[in-house]
Amino acid sequence: MSFTVSAGEAPRGAAVGMTVARNKQGAIPPSGLTASALARRKFEAKPGQVLVVPGATTRILVGVGEASAITLDTLRRAAGAMVRAASGESALAIDLLGVSRLDKRSAAQAITEGAVLAGYSFAKYRTQNHEPSPLVSVVLTGPSNRGVVAGIERGTAIANAVAKVRDLVNEPPGAKTPRDMAAYAEEISAAHGLEIRVWDEHDIEREHCGGLRGVSLGSDQPPRLVKLTYTPAGATRSTPTLAIVGKGITFDSGGLSLKSGDGMMLMKMDMSGAAITIATMGLIGQFKPEVRVIGYACLTENLPGPKAIKPGDVLTARNGKTMEVLNTDAEGRLVLADGLSLAVEDKADAIVDLATLTGAMLVALGSDITGLFTNHPGFAGQVKAASERAAEPMWELPIPPSYRKHIDSTVADMKNIGIPGKAGSIAAAHFLQEFVSGRPWVHLDIAGTAWADADDTFISKGATGVHVRTLVELAEIFTKP
Ligand code: BES
Ligand code: MN
Ligand code: ZN
Repeated sequence: MSFTVSAGEAPRGAAVGMTVARNKQGAIPPSGLTASALARRKFEAKPGQVLVVPGATTRILVGVGEASAITLDTLRRAAGAMVRAASGESALAIDLLGVSRLDKRSAAQAITEGAVLAGYSFAKYRTQNHEPSPLVSVVLTGPSNRGVVAGIERGTAIANAVAKVRDLVNEPPGAKTPRDMAAYAEEISAAHGLEIRVWDEHDIEREHCGGLRGVSLGSDQPPRLVKLTYTPAGATRSTPTLAIVGKGITFDSGGLSLKSGDGMMLMKMDMSGAAITIATMGLIGQFKPEVRVIGYACLTENLPGPKAIKPGDVLTARNGKTMEVLNTDAEGRLVLADGLSLAVEDKADAIVDLATLTGAMLVALGSDITGLFTNHPGFAGQVKAASERAAEPMWELPIPPSYRKHIDSTVADMKNIGIPGKAGSIAAAHFLQEFVSGRPWVHLDIAGTAWADADDTFISKGATGVHVRTLVELAEIFTKP
């Protein structure tokens, strides 16, 4: 990220970004432009429509649709579109704060998030043909007050955390081993005053984390289990505890049930849940909500080395339940079994897990909507409310009791696959449910949403960093369900 966002006067020569709403007659022209000039350029102020008007001052107009329908996400996306359209400019002044009835602090936060994230790129490994954007400053103009500055600060912190998740997920698998990820968690812990515990391969074995250990056996890279704890000042025994558990497969080859070449091309992204968990814990350390939050990251590679687990092997998870591994490519649920068991032991009042768990999720909901599974409508309501505030869509899928038999095993408490071609994401949720001991729990299958195939306003092709914002909101509103 090469620019910062601040509040103040437009710098000399800055391009000006404006949101343009519409009414029944069409686009409502901003001062200096006429309705007919906009109509001539076919600018109708449809949401997301962009018009660049050159002149002494370059104006970047972004349509936001009906004025009454503008939300924080409209502003986040509009700011993202402006930054993309301003790619040749050195400064951009965004005059958005007048446009809506929205709270100025939240508006400034959303605009900052959209602007900073639209400027994201992963250029670390490029030596050629890469022109860095000249944009050095984005200034929010208009009514400035303490709320606006606070919003910019919060938006910047959140955008930086999301960008860090994107960096980690975009990073090649050889450069983000479980040990590297644990080192990142150590940094976050030191920077934001979180308690940290890292279990190495010996601890993981000694502590009976048989799922994580089993998956790790096919790789030379030792696994890690990270636990980060945030405790609010003045916490008592009645302070609610929220647990976040992240799947952290730093590369998923499928193991002995090897994926195809195409199938493993993107499998560096299989640690998205862990990256989101760790980065969110850093934000929670900064924002200091009133609840205790514990983050667990289950980190390993899934490779078919000589010591790898084999189809037919039986593993025992931390909570003592046995798991027959019939497909080593269904490894996420095996490592999460231990993470969820630990969250239960730590007496979390509610548990949310994030995992790029099933390809079937992409089939069901595509790349824009996360699948939500739960055993507790009340807690799920909190997660849904947080996701709405963050504009990171989720859709609930059922865990029908009648489908539990899909994971019945002939030798163990359960098997790690369901019935081929049938409700694969639900079978995975059923499996995870075996490890939460009835505690309020939400499982988020982010297999579709952790990765974007194309740029779109503040989303860049590649890792998305989705749900950092949802989890931060959740920690703010969380109450014992
Ligand atoms: N990490 C994959 C799921 C995945 C697929 C994430 C595509 C993102 C994009 C997971 O470990 C996996 O391989 N799941 C299997 C489970 C099956 C063997 C029961 C799948 O979905 O094919
Ligand atoms: Mn897999
Ligand atoms: Zn996986």
